[in-house]
Amino acid sequence: MTIPDGPVDNISFENISFHYPGGHGEAIENLNLNIHRGELIALVGENGAGKSTLVKLLLRFYDVQNGSIKIGGVDVKDMDPETLRSRIGILFQDYATYELSVRENVMMGWPYGEADDEKVMKALKDSRSEWLVKKMTNGLDSKVGRLFEGGHDLSGGEWQRLALARIMYRNADIWILDEPTSSLDPEAEAAIFAELKENLKGRIGIVISHRFSTVRIADRIAVIDEGHIKELGTHHELLAAGNTYARLFELQASGYR
Ligand SMILES: Nc1ncnc2c1ncn2[C@@H]1O[C@H](COP(=O)(O)OP(=O)(O)OP(=O)(O)O)[C@@H](O)[C@H]1O
Ligand SMILES: [Mg+2]
Repeated sequence: MTIPDGPVDNISFENISFHYPGGHGEAIENLNLNIHRGELIALVGENGAGKSTLVKLLLRFYDVQNGSIKIGGVDVKDMDPETLRSRIGILFQDYATYELSVRENVMMGWPYGEADDEKVMKALKDSRSEWLVKKMTNGLDSKVGRLFEGGHDLSGGEWQRLALARIMYRNADIWILDEPTSSLDPEAEAAIFAELKENLKGRIGIVISHRFSTVRIADRIAVIDEGHIKELGTHHELLAAGNTYARLFELQASGYR
């Protein structure tokens, strides 16, 4: 089974439960979540709440023990993991930094077929890292990283932008950022989330962050607590509800004032 090409209609987590092999207790317990086409959803919650586990289950690094995860109505268990992963562009916290040329770095997102410089430049532009190429003497051929003589070393934030260009270059229909921006200042993180949202164009976006100031731009926010969804709604709905999200948001906001 496979899902048709192009943006997917939805991703649904249907009453799923999961415990890690050898793990203590359920990492995910009776969790339900339906994400719609074109939606940017943010997952927030304490360390160990189960946010990254949800992503790993979607990618089929593990399979759920109960319930099912469906993409466009098709159970991920019926999909070939390679095909499934080819549809998903993901950026983890420990994103890879490839010490290659700028062109090769971006193409890593989809290393098949001929180099298409126009497409590479577009991805760099969409991730606002075009300046990177302009500042270097050899354009797309410029080497980044210290391995090469004459290689340009990049800052943590610059590597992350290049990594963002990589998932934008890839022809993926689902984009996931699992705290890849934690080494950036809050303003830069907010900018990256905004760029992702702007470029979604019917794709589904899932972002994970501990910063409430940046997750607020998501269409909906899910508060994960001990493996299930505790609160779900827009930033304004959750603020008005006056529960966990509102409390944590106020707490962080007071820190910035
Ligand atoms: N490989 C593993 N084996 C056993 N238990 C694990 C494994 N990975 C995670 N866990 C446990 O599963 C639970 C959920 O972890 P998860 O990584 O999903 O949390 P998280 O919400 O992403 O937290 P953080 O904000 O710290 O990234 C935790 O109790 C964690 O200890
Ligand atoms: Mg995590």
